[in-house]
Amino acid sequence: MIYRFPAVLFFLLFSCCLTSFAQSTPPLLHNAYNRPARLLNGSWHYIVDPYQMGYYNYRYEAFDQKDASNREAYFMNAHPKNKSERIEYNFDQSPTLSVPGDWNSQEDKLLYYEGTIWYQTSFDYVSPPNDRRVLLYFGSVNYTAEVYLNGTKLGKHTGGFTPFNFDVTDLIKEEKNALVVKVDNTRLKEGVPTLNTDWWNYGGITRDVKLISIPNSYIQDYHLQLAPNNNQLIKGFVQLAGDQLNQQEVQLQIRELDIELKVKTDQNGRAEFEIFQEYIDYWSPAAPTLYSIQINTPNDRVRDQIGFRSIHTEGRDILLNGEKIFLKGISLHEEIPQRMGRAYGREDAQYLLEEAKALGCNFVRLAHYPHNENMIRLADQLGLLVWEEIPVYWTIDWENTDTYLNAEQQLTEVIQRDKNRASVIIWSVANETPVNESRNLFLNRLISKARQLDPGRLISAALEQQGFDDNPNLKTIRDPLANSVDILSFNQYIGWYDGLPDKAGRIIWRFTQEKPVFISEFGAGALHGFHADPLTRWSEEYQGYVYRENLKMIEKIPGISGLSPWILFDFRSPRRNLAGIQDGWNRKGLISNEGEKKMAYFVLQEYYSEKR
Ligand code: GCU
Repeated sequence: MIYRFPAVLFFLLFSCCLTSFAQSTPPLLHNAYNRPARLLNGSWHYIVDPYQMGYYNYRYEAFDQKDASNREAYFMNAHPKNKSERIEYNFDQSPTLSVPGDWNSQEDKLLYYEGTIWYQTSFDYVSPPNDRRVLLYFGSVNYTAEVYLNGTKLGKHTGGFTPFNFDVTDLIKEEKNALVVKVDNTRLKEGVPTLNTDWWNYGGITRDVKLISIPNSYIQDYHLQLAPNNNQLIKGFVQLAGDQLNQQEVQLQIRELDIELKVKTDQNGRAEFEIFQEYIDYWSPAAPTLYSIQINTPNDRVRDQIGFRSIHTEGRDILLNGEKIFLKGISLHEEIPQRMGRAYGREDAQYLLEEAKALGCNFVRLAHYPHNENMIRLADQLGLLVWEEIPVYWTIDWENTDTYLNAEQQLTEVIQRDKNRASVIIWSVANETPVNESRNLFLNRLISKARQLDPGRLISAALEQQGFDDNPNLKTIRDPLANSVDILSFNQYIGWYDGLPDKAGRIIWRFTQEKPVFISEFGAGALHGFHADPLTRWSEEYQGYVYRENLKMIEKIPGISGLSPWILFDFRSPRRNLAGIQDGWNRKGLISNEGEKKMAYFVLQEYYSEKR
């Protein structure tokens, strides 16, 4: 029995709330990455506000719902009008944080902080001419953001790892614009992720903030990929937004392919096209060819770099451009360990992905949430295949409609952002979630949504694997979600959480589903520099032993099509408190938080160098 009434009620409420911000919440701009923009990055003032003084009055009524002009509200960025007026905050006198960047790694007092922090910046802006609009675009804010410009609420975004934008045309001034953002990284039972995760709850404006000037009629979205079932057919659409939608001429240019196509939009501003192209230099890890594309309309122009490739499964094989491929992967968190903070810039992406290439990888699993766009764009250029994931992690509140809509929104936003990236081949909807009826329903709805939004990619999730009571050394997957995904992925920790390393030599895996098998996680913890015999926990030798025994076991799995061991770097986690060994770090990295390679790194590197 699927709950319908509350969802319908929620949608009615949600749409009316949307209309109240309709003028400022346009659809997410695709390819904001390549738009000329005014970056608002830099030092922003901040106020730590654990009691949310700047948001609620003393009766705990939200200022922006009750009395939006109250100067006590921090988003008013008020200053005393005279020597007697009482204003109990002052951004100008408050300290600063760097944007982009999490707050935890910038101030010792904020390392564990969970709650509200207000950010404020001021900027001048030459107002756009009448035929242009201005979008305010955030790469991500963890976890909820409430955004105000010059005292007016633009809207609220929930979800810590996906972009969002507002139209600020009618609010922006020539001088002293006050942009105030209330950020709250409090973990919530109904959140996505929920209360318990094995990573640091980095809060803040964690990616770029920028102003993008666009024409009144602009290219809001487009899709340009090979048809899923014909690799000589480039299919796609262009979607205009704003005014002048109907019968607009759209020009698509791919010069290296001598393509120059003209199509007209329909009354909704949408133009669809199919281009038969006999010769295409397909994108692959060995040859990551990206074509320069340009889309022109009478009022707008966007440029992009797009690779064309096909990805399918056939029985237990994964086929890239029709040829079987083995995914030599590694898992990554979005963190620069030496900085103990969120990665966000192009240089960060360069560091993390070059290390994956050096390990011998052709694949990266970007765990457990959408990483910043630099990672995906660079993977396109470096020739790394990518698994992207939304943070539906462990014990999500499966029965909660709002939780589902939040997860679906985050899935929609990451697909909206990355659907033209050749490197992305897998969307994952969950990690290690307990099998039950409401979880199956929740995840199957997400899978249907992903297939509807993007039929050209593979769907997976880190499923639950099980043993047999009568034969503990025989393992399989009975997770019902196995019937819905394209790739049978699962995490297993034989030798770490499940027995000692030699147990891997006794395990037999058997699968009934004729689908590719992918080990999305295995691994072990080790403190770099701690050496002992191979059965001493936390030694580099123990971790190396786990890798050797697991790799031998994996080689015997029928239909094994790849692996992404856990994990390239040691990473921060409040769950890992073993003094002298963990000290707030998860030590399963192949590389330490200081960038030093452990013995197991070389075990995996050798395996990949010999793997075809
Ligand atoms: C799980 C989980 C990871 C976690 C890892 C560990 O498989 O997916 O997020 O960090 O185990 O226990 O280290």
